[in-house]
Amino acid sequence: MKTAILGTGYVGLTTGVCLAYLGHEVTCVDTEEEKILGLQRGECPIYEPWLQELLELSRPRLRFTTRCEEAVPGAAVVIIAVGTPPRADGGPDLNYVRQAAEAVGANLEGEFTVVVNKSTVPIGSGNWVGALVREAYAARRGRKPPNCFAVASNPEFLREGSALYDTLYPDRVVVGADETRALEVLYSLYRPILEQSFTPPTFLPRPEGLGAVPLIATDLASAELIKYAANAFLALKISFINEIAQLAEKVGADITQVAKGIGLDARIGTRFLQAGIGWGGSCFGKDTAALIATAREYNLAMPIVAAAREVNYRQRERVVEKLLAELKILKGRTIALFGLAFKPNTDDLRDAPALDIARRLVERGAAVRAHDPVALARARREFPDLGIVYCDTAQEAAAEADAVVLVTEWRDYRSLDWDEIARAMRTPLVLDGRHFLDRARLEQAGLRCVGV
Ligand code: UDX
Repeated sequence: MKTAILGTGYVGLTTGVCLAYLGHEVTCVDTEEEKILGLQRGECPIYEPWLQELLELSRPRLRFTTRCEEAVPGAAVVIIAVGTPPRADGGPDLNYVRQAAEAVGANLEGEFTVVVNKSTVPIGSGNWVGALVREAYAARRGRKPPNCFAVASNPEFLREGSALYDTLYPDRVVVGADETRALEVLYSLYRPILEQSFTPPTFLPRPEGLGAVPLIATDLASAELIKYAANAFLALKISFINEIAQLAEKVGADITQVAKGIGLDARIGTRFLQAGIGWGGSCFGKDTAALIATAREYNLAMPIVAAAREVNYRQRERVVEKLLAELKILKGRTIALFGLAFKPNTDDLRDAPALDIARRLVERGAAVRAHDPVALARARREFPDLGIVYCDTAQEAAAEADAVVLVTEWRDYRSLDWDEIARAMRTPLVLDGRHFLDRARLEQAGLRCVGV
């Protein structure tokens, strides 16, 4: 099926590469010329496990261009997957979506095209995108479009770091459209995933026992709300366990055991109950803020979602408070941050707790040294002015440090040479922000380990 994807960020590129792998003819469009040139050479612009490999396998059916007119005409499906970065007031900036919708309208050609909103847009945006497409079509051709397109919402649920796995083996596919024709086209697009009829790549085997994937076919508004509600629920699950963790600390309970004990209740589930510094990334913060903003437009308060946000962002300050309680004075101290990316297996730094913690520590007069196995280059490039000394190795970051804070649970950090780290430090203190390190091993190295 001829498919155009506008936007080659985490979502657009992953979707494009997967759809091409599944046999569709995919053209990915991005306005950033450098990125497109790199992709044409087969270079993946982001760090995402297996994306480079799948890109190689899918290349015969994948094209990259900066020109919408090379992708949209004749496409059965056009997927809008451009960024919706947060504005200063917290709401999403919809300029890229507007530009994409207008470009689609100006280039629509052929029998019937489904215009899919994959970018996380405010509820109600499906209708807005439809209107923009119609207007741009009319402006280009001097007449209203015939019944040649329909807008659908198809939210993504992929996690960075396991984006390909989540795309090929999703828990469900959600498609919202007010026209049956659009649902039928999208069923055909996703058939190999829904029926799990494709041959898996060797490096991403199908999980054992995975059968047909459920399809939730619904109206536009419901699909849009599903995306927000899912992210808000996951975010509040994490904030809930972090709130319980505070009490656990007071009463002397072990939060990992508590999380396991409640999570094994099938109604609750064990996932997303990992206590620690809390969530960051491009979705949870932005989407919970947008959900509250949408509700406000209807005079509705969302106290549960608001509390989840409050608890989450407090966690970052708690790291500073913990260090203060341990070290008494932060001015003149050196703190080493292990991990900068908002989670392991990605180089994404959006709303990364590490950067926020670094800012707070620098404000209090501490020197901050940081390491990340993957996101270091990006941090150096995008955040040169935070006052952080970026270090190429964890050992280097720990030199003369009064504390190490484990911010991101990169697997490599567990197996570091902790004896060497202990020798390099000034004060043998480790704050394990993710309950991830092997405490016994650290203690053996003479380090005192505390949690959040
Ligand atoms: C999330 C959603 O999971 C995904 O469905 C949606 O489409 C986009 O947003 P992502 O932000 O990539 O995905 O990562 P995710 O794995 O959900 O982690 C988000 C944050 O929560 C990370 O900072 C992670 O460290 C934190 N987290 C996650 C916890 O603190 N505890 C947990 O138990 C799980």
